[in-house]
Amino acid sequence: MTPADADAVAALHAASWRHAYRGVFTDHYLDHEADAERRTAWQARLNSPTPPADWGIVAEDPAGRLLGFAWVLPDHDPTWGDYIDNLHVAPDAKGGGIGRRLMQAVAERLQRDGSTRPLYLWVLDANTAARAFYERLGAEVTDPQLSDPLGGRQHPVWRCVWRQPATLLAHA
Ligand SMILES: CC(C)(COP(=O)(O)OP(=O)(O)OC[C@H]1O[C@@H](n2cnc3c(N)ncnc32)[C@H](O)[C@@H]1OP(=O)(O)O)[C@@H](O)C(=O)NCCC(=O)NCCS
Repeated sequence: MTPADADAVAALHAASWRHAYRGVFTDHYLDHEADAERRTAWQARLNSPTPPADWGIVAEDPAGRLLGFAWVLPDHDPTWGDYIDNLHVAPDAKGGGIGRRLMQAVAERLQRDGSTRPLYLWVLDANTAARAFYERLGAEVTDPQLSDPLGGRQHPVWRCVWRQPATLLAHA
């Protein structure tokens, strides 16, 4: 992912939230604020003057249209390891294997970079579809907590963990 991807990633991120988080975030936020807020956030993240250790990957169709993305914070937690901060597939491309391939690409790159740490992410309790996806990919769903404020309030979340992320690569 490069600074040139910021606007497309932001647009997909906001569209995915509108599709998957209706009733979780307020309608006002989703319909009137999310696009601009995500654009500001992704422009800032990808144009940071001192490149941090974090990185992102994108999935595109042959014409270069963005189909999905993931953002990774390596070695983010001393216990839980490498952290996936965002994973989203375009609403009209869901169910076609893109989410699985993004997860596998993340695990592959972390392995190539020498990580032997676990891999984890947070999923909203209300996001039953994503929880089913992570369970299908072998995640242990554990450690229920309240999120940091998101869309104006805190939400119940679960930690999804792969203690051996290499197992993700075996999932055909
Ligand atoms: C969750 C998400 C990333 C999954 O990506 P995807 O491309 O739709 O999922 P895939 O097609 O790669 O599915 C991989 C496997 O998970 C299964 N799966 C996917 N969604 C599922 C669901 N809702 N219920 C049960 N299983 C599901 C698929 O059947 C597939 O299983 P298979 O390997 O046996 O064929 C995507 O749907 C998405 O962006 N959702 C909205 C945003 C979101 O919730 N992001 C996660 C935030 S934590």
